[in-house]
Amino acid sequence: MKKLYLTVLFVFVFIVEVMVVVSVGGIQPVNRVPKILPNPVDLLSFTHYLTTCPDAEAIIQRKVSAWIQKDYTLAASIIRLHFHDCAVRGCDASVLLNHRGSERRAFASRTLRGFHIIDDIKAELETICPRTVSCADILTAAARDATVQLNGPFWQVPLGRRDGRISISKEAGMVPQGHENVTALIEFFQARGLNILDLVILSGSHTIGRSSCYSFKHRLSNFNGTRKPDPSLDANYLNILKKKYCKRNLDLVDLDVTTPRVFDTAYYTNLKKKKGLLSTDQLLYSDGRTAPFVDALASQPSLFENQFAVSMVKLGNVQVLTRPHEGEIRVNCNFVNY
Ligand code: HEM
Ligand SMILES: *[C@@H]1O[C@H](CO)[C@@H](O)[C@H](O)[C@H]1NC(C)=O
Repeated sequence: MKKLYLTVLFVFVFIVEVMVVVSVGGIQPVNRVPKILPNPVDLLSFTHYLTTCPDAEAIIQRKVSAWIQKDYTLAASIIRLHFHDCAVRGCDASVLLNHRGSERRAFASRTLRGFHIIDDIKAELETICPRTVSCADILTAAARDATVQLNGPFWQVPLGRRDGRISISKEAGMVPQGHENVTALIEFFQARGLNILDLVILSGSHTIGRSSCYSFKHRLSNFNGTRKPDPSLDANYLNILKKKYCKRNLDLVDLDVTTPRVFDTAYYTNLKKKKGLLSTDQLLYSDGRTAPFVDALASQPSLFENQFAVSMVKLGNVQVLTRPHEGEIRVNCNFVNY
């Protein structure tokens, strides 16, 4: 009787123990080799397509250059497309997906353009090395080539991004639109691993390209309910903006009033003269956290060139998908595979 009692007790204790072990995650093997996953960014490399598609970068470069020679305004649009891609779900080409409810179809994306260039490059790459080069890599390299085309700096682009399969319209509205305060801009960049210097440097992209009136017209009159224009806007510049442009919301105005076609530091010297077009641009010179960088960059073009390259590589590395099971290599940049 006592023996039976002990046996039952033993079995009970054993079962409880098994349940505990299972609930805490199973039996850990002794001398288990720690499985440390590499940082996704570390899986990017300059030689990613060296054996699988050695001409990829040359083809991208050739196409971008040909398109921009036909229409220089496409350079700015490609660079902005890359920013909007990386700003939402990382640099995964989610901005290129063209289905109902995708980022691309959002109101906030309505002035994005240049999609046809990426499609054109992708079509050629698919004939040469099918299912190999990701749309995210094409867009990243194209943004570099577009910068070079307008006399901006060159940098090496680490490759190996994979394309995401998710794109959600309302997430496109999270990208700064031009009416934010500097704190919001800093926080937005910080959330993506980019610091205040990166913010000021990358905003320097507005040394080229154009804005629709919709994005700055609130500065021209009754600014923040004051019944007056934005006081941080130069009076002559204000008059030019009021007279010449903005009959319609989608009228376009150069972001850099001085040298709109050249990738230079005029963006920063404009800010010092109250000639920033977007309020988010001008605010960078009135906030103590960002103004010292504006001063430094306005007076040192080589600092801007070097740091722009560094900050663009950082932008291109935001939340990249690089592990084999993550994302896919899209066949058509507009749609996920099958
Ligand atoms: C700091 C926050 C930023 C804000 C608030 C902002 C806002 C804007 C706005 C409102 C426009 C004009 C859109 C329109 O109404 O047509 C624009 C255009 C542009 N943005 Fe930004 N932007 C920011 C950062 C960036 C970054 C980081 C880049 C690139 C790395 C970039 C590149 C461009 C370019 C090149 C254009 C001109 C596009 C074209 O001509 O098609 N922006 N931006
Ligand atoms: C800046 O913008 C954020 C987000 O829109 C807001 O919560 C915050 O109150 C603003 N800060 C200032 C100082 O206006």
